[in-house]
Amino acid sequence: MNNKPLVVVIMGSKSDWDVMKGAADMLTEFGVAHECRVMSAHRTPGLVTEFISTAEQRGVEVVIAAAGGAAHLAGVAAAHTVLPVLGVPMETKSLGGLDSLLSTVQMPGGIPVGTLAIGSAGAKNAALLAIAILANSRPELREKLKAYRKKQAEKVLAEKLP
Ligand code: RP5
Repeated sequence: MNNKPLVVVIMGSKSDWDVMKGAADMLTEFGVAHECRVMSAHRTPGLVTEFISTAEQRGVEVVIAAAGGAAHLAGVAAAHTVLPVLGVPMETKSLGGLDSLLSTVQMPGGIPVGTLAIGSAGAKNAALLAIAILANSRPELREKLKAYRKKQAEKVLAEKLP
């Protein structure tokens, strides 16, 4: 998107993109300007510090951070900003993502990370939660969210079992 990003979606590795594309697609569907970047709390700590500590002054309002395994990206991001940080734990081969979930969710009191579900549901919901946060001051986004929920409910109500 060309507009100044309101949401940044960061992920620890390019290998997270297949799942995190779900968050980007949802933000696009709602017309929310966003930027997606790969950066790692462990492999590129300097970049994370610089990118997140300057996010607020660039006009960013919500940070979505995804990582797997020793998933410290969301927590480290939260340490560098007072913007809301939403963490998405990535599924892992070794431990199914429970490692990522616990690493993301167990933050010390005082530095919050709003942690979503493991994997694609978490990616989608992180975007919807970011949109809900933005919608507090943007009535048009709130209306879009209501329309999204209505359409979703109608789809379920219309489902027929064989
Ligand atoms: C984490 O390690 C990333 O977020 C990714 O989920 C996981 C594996 O990364 P790669 O080894 O595939 O780059 O930092």
